[in-house]
Amino acid sequence: MTPLDSPTAWPAEAIWEQVFPLLPNFTVEILPEIDSTNSELMRRARAGQHEPTLLVAERQSAGRGRMGRVWQSQAGDSLTFSLSLPMSPKDWSGLSLAVGLSLAESLHAEVGLKWPNDLWFKARKLGGILVEAASMGGRSQVVIGVGLNIRPRPAEGLSTAPAALTELLPQLTAPACLAQVVPPLIRAMLDFERTGFAPLQSRFEARDVLKGQRVHTSDGLQGLCLGLTPGGALRLQTDLGVQEIHSAEVSVRPLPKDTSS
Ligand code: BTN
Repeated sequence: MTPLDSPTAWPAEAIWEQVFPLLPNFTVEILPEIDSTNSELMRRARAGQHEPTLLVAERQSAGRGRMGRVWQSQAGDSLTFSLSLPMSPKDWSGLSLAVGLSLAESLHAEVGLKWPNDLWFKARKLGGILVEAASMGGRSQVVIGVGLNIRPRPAEGLSTAPAALTELLPQLTAPACLAQVVPPLIRAMLDFERTGFAPLQSRFEARDVLKGQRVHTSDGLQGLCLGLTPGGALRLQTDLGVQEIHSAEVSVRPLPKDTSS
């Protein structure tokens, strides 16, 4: 029996026991399949359901990535979950960076961060984050979707095969990974609500894989990454001076060394 065949394999109760004191009404749901955990929690938020909810799906039939991309994952080889939280921080900037930082710190010292919120290992993508929000009647609900590659998978049309967490943590399973990352992520979101991104800047920069690299952005800028602003914007030294990139809708790619001069 593989871990996913067993209905008791997911640590739903252990997670609930850790989180419930911090978040009354917190619920955990594990589903064998859904279109997308983010889509489902966004549907619920728009329908006025504001309970803090962790929704895990063993399979997604229509997993979504940033910038309208498809997120592909295989049951057991990856972990896919979303967390829906009512939030009202004074300043939202840097929220998705705080998510990435929390995940990286609870996973492994060698997990890097590629702005705005990809998890990287050895120049390959280890996981991604899709943050969405619904506002209704003055209340804001944030849906944080996380996809982590647990076991290696083929490149499938990508130029390089993605990285996998078992390269760093050989015994890791999707359920164990869930238990490892969710309670710290919820604590990080509660801290973010109070203090914003600025206190996290130096910890993010310690894992920043772009700092000091020449990059180009999907909206046509090229330059040298200088790090971040206290609000989490990317600082880029371009021919026109230092530019700050705020939008998470911009994709940033390192330039190959031979075209960087
Ligand atoms: C990205 O890097 O483009 C973001 C990927 C986010 C994928 C996760 S998997 C769980 C949640 N449900 C989705 O449909 N997407 C997010």
